[in-house]
Amino acid sequence: MSVGRKRRTHKDAIEEFKKGKIMLRDKYRHALVCTSTILMALVGALIFVSVPMVRANPSPDSVAASATFRTKCAMCHGQDGAGSAVGKSMNVPDLRAPMVQNVPDAELAQVISNGKGGMPPFKSSLSEDQIRALVTHIRSLHQKK
Ligand code: HEC
Repeated sequence: MSVGRKRRTHKDAIEEFKKGKIMLRDKYRHALVCTSTILMALVGALIFVSVPMVRANPSPDSVAASATFRTKCAMCHGQDGAGSAVGKSMNVPDLRAPMVQNVPDAELAQVISNGKGGMPPFKSSLSEDQIRALVTHIRSLHQKK
């Protein structure tokens, strides 16, 4: 009798051990499902957030040009192209005005490169690509008006 009970206890112990293992495995599976759900939600959220951001900023070029304009040009031309107080005292043209907007790209690039009147030359401090991007930036000022 006592031997039988002992044996049963032993078997019970094995059963319990097995159950415990299965429970543990289920726990892992649950954790795995949870983690992958969270990951998928994160990836989804990232796509959701980044798509409008990419749309809002058409290209890294225009962001860079806008920054160059702020540091090199805005002190005379104003961030919006209308002309700062200093610039107005030097008679800078409103960059959004037809007088500037009707000038072809190549000529604007040439003025930025070599300067003109009170406008300093930038060919030594800006690359051709940067100057081209600035011309595009000046065109975009026109559209914002
Ligand atoms: C020190 C002040 C100053 C700075 C800095 C400056 N400009 Fe000018 N800019 C002028 C002045 C003055 C004029 C008018 C020149 C003229 O027509 O005699 C001018 C004219 C221009 C024109 C009109 C050219 C035309 O033919 O109508 C453009 C385009 C221009 N600047 C772009 C820029 C860009 C881009 C930068 C930055 C890289 C810049 N400027 C920095 C003073 C400045």
